[in-house]
Amino acid sequence: MDINLIQAQIEADLSNANSPQALEELRIKYLGRKGLIAELTGSIPALAAEQRGSFGKEVNALKNRLLNLLNEKEKSLAGDSLKPGNADVDIGMPGIAPELGTVHPITRIIGEISTVFNHMGFCVLEGPEVETEHNNFTGLNIPLEHPSRDAFDTFYLKNYTNFLLRSHTSPVQVRTMKKHKPPLAIVVPGRVYRPDAVDASHLFMFHQIEGFLVDENVRFSDLKGILSFFLKSVFSSDIKMRFRPHFFPFTEPSAEVDISCLICKGKGCSACGRKGWLEILGAGMIHPNVFKQVDYDPKKYTGFAFGMGIERIAMLKYGINDIRLFFENDLRFLKQF
Ligand code: PHE
Repeated sequence: MDINLIQAQIEADLSNANSPQALEELRIKYLGRKGLIAELTGSIPALAAEQRGSFGKEVNALKNRLLNLLNEKEKSLAGDSLKPGNADVDIGMPGIAPELGTVHPITRIIGEISTVFNHMGFCVLEGPEVETEHNNFTGLNIPLEHPSRDAFDTFYLKNYTNFLLRSHTSPVQVRTMKKHKPPLAIVVPGRVYRPDAVDASHLFMFHQIEGFLVDENVRFSDLKGILSFFLKSVFSSDIKMRFRPHFFPFTEPSAEVDISCLICKGKGCSACGRKGWLEILGAGMIHPNVFKQVDYDPKKYTGFAFGMGIERIAMLKYGINDIRLFFENDLRFLKQF
């Protein structure tokens, strides 16, 4: 038998095989138990003794060559299947679109409020949620006997008696003023903690945004101007604002700020408890005792501060009636923002 002829036949067969099935048929035809290679090997004992060795080598070389060719062809067929039109896979089929998330409403309001203050020249800062008792209370002129220092109104850290979860963002005033000299114009968004029983308007964790500005000759009217611009930007340009006298240990004078009800526009409805006004934030001129604690000269510098609950702003702005909705991760709620 002419080995060269056989080899030419094998090569022709392989180049015509264009599918994995055709290739498998050739593998059986040549390498199977009753295949050509087996037949050639089986013919060796019948040969003259001096021919056996060289014929055996040729058959072996042929077998190796055949294995190589089969291998190569297999690879090239696998490569072909990725080309358009040749494939079991339809590479033109539309993909599975990834689900797009949305910004959480609280994050969104923080962004909006920060941007408004940013445009007025305020920097955005953050502070730690675990605070010292000093920054949260003493440094803010909150005396030992003040009820908010009570263990029922503040989360103290077990084994670290001077540390607590901050109950407001005001401690960042103390931190910042200790580090930097005036002029300062800062807003501070962040989480705060109070051991309140959870209901439709209370949570043990919520968000506040603090703002403060310190310089020479800062007046109460500056506070009014800034807050009026801010509240009109976030709600609507036709809202009214009013200051009610209030008390905070760290501001003097202090006020609570209301806006005219967004629903009844001041006439009185069920949303505002028939008052026509909605309480929105606390504010005032920074108390001289706060300045003394951070080595600012209260004769030289004055400043104002304000703080507000972000969930409350979001609830009023979007007409949400239960604060718990923000933190239940219900996508039907969250996808609306
Ligand atoms: N820290 C006060 C609160 O949590 C809010 C406030 C901040 C009031 C700054 C006045 C000035 O209620």
